[in-house]
Amino acid sequence: MIDSSKVKDGPLLLVKGLRVSYGPVEAVRNIDLQVNKGQIVTLLGANGAGKSSTLNALVGLAAKKGGTVTFNNQDITALSTEQIVRQGMTLTPEGRRIFPNLTVDENLLLGGAMHAGRGSPAEVRAEMLERFPILKERLHQKAGSLSGGEQQMLAIARSLMSSPDLLLLDEPSLGLAPQIVDQIFEMIERLREQGLTILLVEQNVSLSLEIADAGYVLANGAVVLSGTAAQLRHSDEIQGAYLGA
Ligand SMILES: Nc1ncnc2c1ncn2[C@@H]1O[C@H](COP(=O)(O)OP(=O)(O)OP(=O)(O)O)[C@@H](O)[C@H]1O
Ligand SMILES: [Mg+2]
Repeated sequence: MIDSSKVKDGPLLLVKGLRVSYGPVEAVRNIDLQVNKGQIVTLLGANGAGKSSTLNALVGLAAKKGGTVTFNNQDITALSTEQIVRQGMTLTPEGRRIFPNLTVDENLLLGGAMHAGRGSPAEVRAEMLERFPILKERLHQKAGSLSGGEQQMLAIARSLMSSPDLLLLDEPSLGLAPQIVDQIFEMIERLREQGLTILLVEQNVSLSLEIADAGYVLANGAVVLSGTAAQLRHSDEIQGAYLGA
């Protein structure tokens, strides 16, 4: 169990020298990252830059070839995914990965199977249904029958069932209509207001930098640019490559 009071404004997540390889493919080479408590930090970069590999390695779903991960002042580098989730860090993966043939409720219950220990699964479920009324309406429907936006809401709610301090979100807006994308971003901001810390991987650079406090740009598995969201928004590199200036 985490004592969140130990960390005030310091780093909740500190990553040093992270490396991930798939055979000969070096997907992540020596990345340093810092996410402070209560922040939204965004990880930007082109297809194949190493964003998902970074998030997957942080939660133990991709093997780390090197580096250290400190979370809530504890070295979690060598922990299993289950142990990491129990420490309070969880991932909503790219592509949502909900179970389409299970109901909304069953998907939520699976998300609560690993848990950071705050509140009973029943209490957290009740909180999720209050926070996501659309899921309450669809509770006994097969998850595969939900719209794309609803499935993303479910994927996030399922992650939140483990009561994380830090949520890693991998491309939550992928494939969704602009109006739904706006809803997802508003929801991410609300989560932050409620005390969650978020590391957000996104292709939507403009919206991400609007809601983020800070960001990192990856290229070929390395950080090529970092700063506050305002600094990144105004940088020539971001303007030229992503914001069409
Ligand atoms: N399981 C895997 N086996 C082999 N190579 C992989 C695997 N997963 C990713 N890669 C490679 O690692 C590199 C980084 O991929 P990664 O998925 O982390 O990038 P990404 O920034 O998330 O890209 P995208 O924006 O397309 O999601 C790419 O060259 C990719 O082809
Ligand atoms: Mg990816």
